Amino acid sequence: MTRYYPVSLALENRRCVVLGGGPLAAEKMQGLLRAGARVTVIAAAAAAEIRRAAVDGRIALVERDYVSGDLQGAWLVIDASGREDINAASRREAEDRRVLLNVVDRAQLCDWIAPAIVQRGPLQVAVSTSGESPFLASALRRRLEQDLGEEWEPFVRLVGALRRRLREQGAPMERQEAVYAALLRSDVRRLLRDGEGARALALSEEILSTPRQGRVWLVGAGPGGPDLLTLAAREALAHADLVLHDALVEPSVLALARQGARLVDVGKRAGGRRFPQERINALLLEAAGAGDEVVRLKGGDPFVFARGGEEAAFLAEAGIEVRVIPGVSSATAAPALAGIPLTLRGVASSVAFVTARGVGAQRADLRRLAADVDTLVVLMARDGLPEVASCLAEVAGDERPAAVVAAAGTRRQQVVRGDLATIAQRCAAAEVAAPATLVVGEVVAAAAASARRAAAV
Ligand SMILES: C[S@@+](CC[C@H](N)C(=O)[O-])C[C@H]1O[C@@H](n2cnc3c(N)ncnc32)[C@H](O)[C@@H]1O
Repeated sequence: MTRYYPVSLALENRRCVVLGGGPLAAEKMQGLLRAGARVTVIAAAAAAEIRRAAVDGRIALVERDYVSGDLQGAWLVIDASGREDINAASRREAEDRRVLLNVVDRAQLCDWIAPAIVQRGPLQVAVSTSGESPFLASALRRRLEQDLGEEWEPFVRLVGALRRRLREQGAPMERQEAVYAALLRSDVRRLLRDGEGARALALSEEILSTPRQGRVWLVGAGPGGPDLLTLAAREALAHADLVLHDALVEPSVLALARQGARLVDVGKRAGGRRFPQERINALLLEAAGAGDEVVRLKGGDPFVFARGGEEAAFLAEAGIEVRVIPGVSSATAAPALAGIPLTLRGVASSVAFVTARGVGAQRADLRRLAADVDTLVVLMARDGLPEVASCLAEVAGDERPAAVVAAAGTRRQQVVRGDLATIAQRCAAAEVAAPATLVVGEVVAAAAASARRAAAV
């Protein structure tokens, strides 16, 4: 495999030659014109698009086949003739003249290959597989195109203009970088995407005068790996100065934090080190007050049994800007990943979420819910499981189907099925580890039955 050295060439007003007159040649001609090159196309028969460009005076068209000497004075040549005799001859001449040649679809004859490009005005992202798979290169380009919306063009121009201003003012590099980082994580891009150019400009001026305005993002990390993370959560992590995270957050999610971001595990694992809530609040306040972009990263959703509501209220009271990024809660994801729907036509039409924490005090609540709802999802279920199951069985009966889903969405995912009479024993036998979620209701049996039917088909 050839090793390539990536460059972006300045071809403005430089003679570039395209051999061939078909659609591929027309495409190459257009690319060179976009770069401002002086293009000559050499082809006995040229497509209408090429002839039009010649009539408009945008290119020079030589209406015959390539002959030796045509590459004289060229900086770059693309042979899109598709003819082996021309390919061989152009290769020889390019070698003699030290002109860089690309022969379309014949990597072994090429001095250079063209990457797949995502273009957003001045922003260019080039994707190359070094010729191994043009298909993969363009599939990746399409993905990047979706990630980098059209707003990136005005955004890059705006940042460029601010950069020139800062440099003219002689702003030190540290201040410049603080401004660029603040622009990147600000709402400027969203405003540009929404066509709110004037507001985007006003916000960028504000950032220019005070780039470091700390705030806290309460972010849901989902139940497991990064595939169940929202795009907004990824973005917040990519810009964080400080990440205060729960113990349950997977290392593969933490790896998405900005390089150089400080990561602090403030998790409260049962039996492990305790990080009091007051200390977490104080850390959030201190960092955001000092101008940091703080991500408070919680497993699942930050507002589901995660004290996110308390933290948001505390920070708002202290005058700190707080933004919430919802997450995929394990309360819905754990059953879903085990193939258990929480509602099912004709089987279950109501669902409740509850925690097993302090089950002694909550017995009345649990009994009421067990009587009133079709499906019950019990979080923090592992340690108090025997007690919870027997309390629920008193109302719902021993035979009510139950399942425990542990470490859902990770490689360690475990699903144990049974009923309220047997589930605790089965989990103990299977050595189910935390985090674990209990699902109780007929949906558990219905899901198992449909899985059996599907397997029999
Ligand atoms: C303190 S609660 C936090 C819930 C979280 N905020 C959410 O929305 O998923 C922790 C409990 O969530 C459940 N949980 C979290 N991650 C889980 C996972 N990957 N699989 C199963 N249950 C999980 C367990 O019941 C665990 O004890």
